[in-house]
This record gives sequence, C-alpha cells and structure tokens, in this order.
Amino acid sequence: MRKTLSIFFVSMVSSALVFSAQAAEKGKGSIKKSEYGKTPDGKAVDLYTLTNAKGMVAKLITYGAICTELHTPDRNGKLGDIVLGFDNLQQFQGEHPYFGSTIGRVANRIAKGKFTLEGKNYTLAVNNGPNSLHGGLKGFNRVLWKAEPREAKDSVAVKFSYLSPNGEEGYPGNLTVTVTYILTDKNELKIEYTASTDRTTILNLTHHGYFNLAGEGDILGHQMTLAADRFTPVDDTLIPTGELAKVKGTPMDFTKPMAIGSRIGQLTNDPRGYDHNYVLNKGDKKLGFALRVYEPKSGRQMELYTTEPGLQFYTGNFLDGSLKGKYGVIYKKHFGFCVEADHFPDSIHHPNFPSIVLKPGEKYQQTTIHKFSAH
Ligand code: GLA
Repeated sequence: MRKTLSIFFVSMVSSALVFSAQAAEKGKGSIKKSEYGKTPDGKAVDLYTLTNAKGMVAKLITYGAICTELHTPDRNGKLGDIVLGFDNLQQFQGEHPYFGSTIGRVANRIAKGKFTLEGKNYTLAVNNGPNSLHGGLKGFNRVLWKAEPREAKDSVAVKFSYLSPNGEEGYPGNLTVTVTYILTDKNELKIEYTASTDRTTILNLTHHGYFNLAGEGDILGHQMTLAADRFTPVDDTLIPTGELAKVKGTPMDFTKPMAIGSRIGQLTNDPRGYDHNYVLNKGDKKLGFALRVYEPKSGRQMELYTTEPGLQFYTGNFLDGSLKGKYGVIYKKHFGFCVEADHFPDSIHHPNFPSIVLKPGEKYQQTTIHKFSAH
C-alpha cells in the first residue's frame, strides 16, 4: 500500500512540474522545465534539465543563470555529478563563492572599485578587500534571467537573457545580455554569450563552475595541461601588477600535464593555492584550445576551448568546510577547481591587456566549450 501510494505521489509531482518534457526517446535529447523555488519577493525560479542523446545531463536555473548539476560518464559509462553547488534556491541566494554562476558585468577584480571611462569616473561596490569582485553586490549571479528552451538536431539548449539597466551596480549603459548553455550530443557543454549596450561600458563575462571530475574529495590529483606560457602576477589583494611573467621553471607551469597538487605547496599566497590569470597561447578572439584536465581514478577528462584571451585558474582556496552542498557534502579547501575563461583581471587599469570596453553599436560575443570524455 505504502509503495503504491508513494509511486502515485511521485508521478503526480513530476507530471505537475514537467512543462515541456519530450518523450525520453532513445537517442534523442530532451529539455524539461520545472519549478525550482521562489525568490523572497515571490518570483518563480525555473529549473531546466537538459539531457543529450548519450544521457549526459546539465541542470540550469533562471536565478543567476546557474548550472546546478552536470552529470558526465566515467570510463565505465557511469554518470556522476561533477560540479559543486546546492540542491535548493535558498542556499544559492545566501552567501556562497559563486558556485556554477554566470559572472557579470565584470568578472574578477577592479582595483579599489573605481574606473574612468571617456573622462567620467565610476564607483563600484567594494566587496573583496579594497577591490570590487565579480560584478558587485548583486551581480549577474543574483538576478533573475528569462529563459527560452532551444532544440536542434544534435543539441539541446537554454538561452537566458537579461536587461541590465544603466547604472546597475555602478556600471554605465543599458546592457542586453544573453547566455546560452548548449548541451551537444558530443558531450560538450557550450556556453555562448552576447551583449550590446547603449553607452560605452566595460564587460567581462564568465562561468564560475567548480569542477571535481572524481565527483568527490579534493582535486589535487587531477592532471592538468594548460596552454599558457605566461600569467599575470598579482599584488597581495590579487590585482595584477601589469607584468606578463613566464611560467617556465615555476609552479605556475602546466604546459605539460601535471597533477594540480604537485607543486601547490611551493606557492606562497594565503590561503595557499592557485588563483591566477593565465595568458592563453591561443591569443584573443579566435576559438582555440585552453586546457585539458584528466582525473585518473574515474577516467573523466574535460577539455576547454574558448574565444577569450585569459583564464583564471582557481583551486577553491577559500573553501573552508563552512558550506554544506548537494548530497550533504562539506566543501573543504581544494574540493573543486574553477577555470574561468575571460579577459584579464583589472583590465580597465592596464592598457597593455586586451580591452574590455564595449561601445554602442558593437556586439560582445564569447564562446567557451567544455568537452567531456573518459578513458
Ligand atoms: C575567483 C577569484 C577568487 C575567488 C573566487 C570566489 O576565482 O579569483 O579569488 O574570489 O572567485 O571565491
């Protein structure tokens, strides 16, 4: 009796929540929309579950255009969730270090939260030591996005859009921005961004997923190859000095495959770990190879291709065991790594860095592809 009842209940709940589920035909992807929760002011937040023809799953919510889950196969074909995050809206609305989030308007740091553009001075919220970080107090990770499901022959996608009003978080220009997460049948999660503005502004979007290809424990045994001969050294508030330094002969060098943890003890920053912007050898604008990370126990591999010139490699140094995530896991130091493809930190103060200025009439475009496989 109890069993019958619970089956009845489960089917009631799922049929109430499913909006555009396709019959889960074998060999075809599907998009499912369901309710995720409500913001304190009563606005509905939706969850989109993308499943590709091979069974890989990406879950995305309209709050923050956040990727809440990403299930990829290990070498035996067993799916595992390889990103950190929560299983409820409340925790995503609380304090957390940008798990799975879309970051904007400007990813990473702007020194002292101040900049000058076309002779005008702008002041931003200072939310990270003396600097402004990841778009300010209410960045793109804390706004509600409109969502539109999109299906193609060999992919399923959700396109998020947002209109950021002139002056939001101190940034000039009405900005129309879209971020589309496309899950292809080749096990790629492709993230495409577009934006345009009606006043000259600055923009540097990125995705702040925390990956753990083993699905558990720390990420120090993951092996990484990063196609960057140079990086941008920083001061003790993590603002670049402006120098493009060579990685050769230092613990920063991942040009050949190396365990992430193999030289982490030689770093001197506090809390210790990688939190550095790499200058990708592929250059600016063209889509090209950035990195490969392989996890030997599960056999999972992620490759990253991007149009961006830089990549912030961050080893979850600030995770300190104070957050409990999905599946009841306590997130400790180095339990996830971020590979944020974007422009360099504090670019607006460094004329020698690729520009993040966006003018009216120009179209901002970025594509970053996370390609998953296992062997
Ligand atoms: C980025 C920064 C880090 C940290 C995280 C969020 O990766 O570079 O210093 O702020 O975001 O905790």
